[in-house]
Amino acid sequence: AELERIVTGLPKVSLHTHLIGSVQATTVVELARKHGVALDGGRTAENLYDHASYEDLGEFLRVLDVVGAVIRDVDDFHRVTYESLTSGGADHGVLYREIMLSPPGHPGVPYRTILDGVIAGMRDAHADTGIHANLVVAINRNDSAAAGVELVEQVIADRRDEVLGIGLDYDETIGPPERFWKAFRLAGEAGLRRTAHSESGPPHHVETILDLLGGERIDHGYHVVDDPAITARCVAERIPFTCTPVSSDIGRYSGSGDGSHRRIKEMVDAGLCVTIDSDDPPMFGTDPTHDYRAVATALGYGLDELAGFTLNAVEGCWLDETDKAALR
Ligand code: HPA
Ligand code: ZN
Repeated sequence: AELERIVTGLPKVSLHTHLIGSVQATTVVELARKHGVALDGGRTAENLYDHASYEDLGEFLRVLDVVGAVIRDVDDFHRVTYESLTSGGADHGVLYREIMLSPPGHPGVPYRTILDGVIAGMRDAHADTGIHANLVVAINRNDSAAAGVELVEQVIADRRDEVLGIGLDYDETIGPPERFWKAFRLAGEAGLRRTAHSESGPPHHVETILDLLGGERIDHGYHVVDDPAITARCVAERIPFTCTPVSSDIGRYSGSGDGSHRRIKEMVDAGLCVTIDSDDPPMFGTDPTHDYRAVATALGYGLDELAGFTLNAVEGCWLDETDKAALR
């Protein structure tokens, strides 16, 4: 009961939640009907997010493709953003979120349409609940290096104040970080902040992200603790690691044989700057409160440790110092 009070009441800052992974299954079904498209393979609201179907990251990403394909017009992007930030955010004490946005996940939809709808949803969510949000536009690492450059060029050509930076997501076994050095360099030259996923990848990918891509954060990063020297460097540099206990435990990471909770504990114990997030909340049956609950239960953490995760997220977010101070 004490823990429940802590995890529900704790103010949260969210740095690793994908919009495309935040859509309630009922919303997916409604949008499919609206656009007159069938969800393939007999998918329904009841079985769409069946964890057992995520046999590997590739299978999981195929479900993401189904979701991405039904979000098409400005109203759709407004709706999914609004729902993610209100019932999936503010209702859980999230004060601020840097939304991971995947334009390549919505084939055929103009970048401008996506951004117009998402930013309108952010504005309305803010007006109704006070939650504040910005955007991280993520390159799909299954794509070519040239596609990554093209996306960054699009971000720069249609520059919005809300887009603070770029990320790198989808399948690490297909797209290693170094493939995207040009896209990341271009982003850095344009003053965009940079982060990248490294969930299953080896520790040297963390170094590649920091040194070659100019990354300032690492999304997941569980294998950093396999290399003491890289870990020590990340401790010294206060590199934020955006960990996602429930998604990594259910999903792909657990496939490697050891749970994410133990990794998260090793990272915390090593002195790394760890944050807690949900990745793709309804797809893994989680939400911001539940990820804090899960890590607290698995590792015996209490208020001090959990509040520490929020403070790490404040430190690691890409707001300016004045806005960060307001969050504290
Ligand atoms: N993993 C990798 N890429 C993603 C995810 C994820 O959970 N969600 C959206 N893109
Ligand atoms: Zn992610």
